[in-house]
Amino acid sequence: MMTDVVPYSFRQNGDYLYITGCTQPGGVAVLSKETGLCMFMPDKHKEDVVWEGQTAGVEAAVDFFKADKAFPLSEMKKILPEMIEQSKVVYHNAKASTSSYRNFDAFRRASLNNKVKDLTHYTDELRWIKSKSEIKLMRESASIVSQSLLQTMLLSRTHREESQLAAKIEYECKMRGAQRMAFHPVVGGGVNGSVVHYSRNDKKIKSGDLVLMDVGCEYHGYLSDLTRTWPPCGRFSAAQEELYSLILETNKECIKLCKPGTSIREIHHHSVKMLISGFQELGIIGKGKSIQYNYLNPTSIGHSLGMDIHDSTSLAFDKPLEPGVVITIEPGIYIPSVPILNEKAPDRFRGIGIRIEDKVLITENGHEVLTASVPKEIPHLTTLINMGGGGSMTESHEARAACN
Ligand code: GLY
Ligand code: MN
Repeated sequence: MMTDVVPYSFRQNGDYLYITGCTQPGGVAVLSKETGLCMFMPDKHKEDVVWEGQTAGVEAAVDFFKADKAFPLSEMKKILPEMIEQSKVVYHNAKASTSSYRNFDAFRRASLNNKVKDLTHYTDELRWIKSKSEIKLMRESASIVSQSLLQTMLLSRTHREESQLAAKIEYECKMRGAQRMAFHPVVGGGVNGSVVHYSRNDKKIKSGDLVLMDVGCEYHGYLSDLTRTWPPCGRFSAAQEELYSLILETNKECIKLCKPGTSIREIHHHSVKMLISGFQELGIIGKGKSIQYNYLNPTSIGHSLGMDIHDSTSLAFDKPLEPGVVITIEPGIYIPSVPILNEKAPDRFRGIGIRIEDKVLITENGHEVLTASVPKEIPHLTTLINMGGGGSMTESHEARAACN
């Protein structure tokens, strides 16, 4: 609850949604060889319906969610302990577990006897490779956020409050059918782009500064994740261009490595090699000072993506990629205006943050970039930002005025 009886918006746990397809809070799902999928659905009283509206009960669990058995949650204390007693091993979603079943004596006994194990590794394995239907949803969530970011880039010529761009991306995603954002959008103008998960989004973007937007949306449970960095006033400075070109080259080279058999770790190592040598050439880190690299880019080159933004996190980064896996490729550089950690980047690069992130599907023959429609080449970005507002003189005047 946000306060008293006023709720936050609810997002279902990924594993529960994957197994049941149910987005409603408060249920418990049990899978066993003997009973198949058994869903315990929250009991609803007439007063609850007055406040919350109609909700799915045991009938919906069987008819709509295709559970083999369904009971009201109030009956769980009679039914579940026996199921636990009869099982050799009990796997449960440790992170999302609730006291509604952990407090049962049967569960405690099983736990003491080492019979209770974490389910996560198994669901992470299942969720790592997307089925055809899941790929369709992943494609759609990528397409929605790509179109929405393009609209937001165009708006940035005349509207340079971070909050306006955050509002625009959310509006465009929801108007295209997204249920919610995948995470709080990062809209960092200038030095705010050097904060990896900047979340305030409350400053004005200065003329000449870049803006970094890291955004994603959720489409029927499946997420997108996309970052672009561009100059809302239509021109990169020399220092911005030098850094941007290196990050872009790294993004493209790492995407080329995406194919069955390689691992996220191998791609990560390649990105680190490219960036260290690029930073050394630009004089950002000294020769033999590769330790300073971590102060300027503390993130991994990417992560698995699916129903969670960092998906299947219990799996090793060495795991070979396979067709149907979706990952991000997101090299970046984050140079604060004054050194926070022990790095010595030159003044001309101070206060610049750049990340270029794409959502990549691994295919039989290599990969497909699901966010490829959003420009990232420098001439494409500057042409997009500098082109007239669809022939509207007012908009091009407004854009010029905003940047003076
Ligand atoms: N885009 C959020 C993250 O990858 O951490
Ligand atoms: Mn990401």
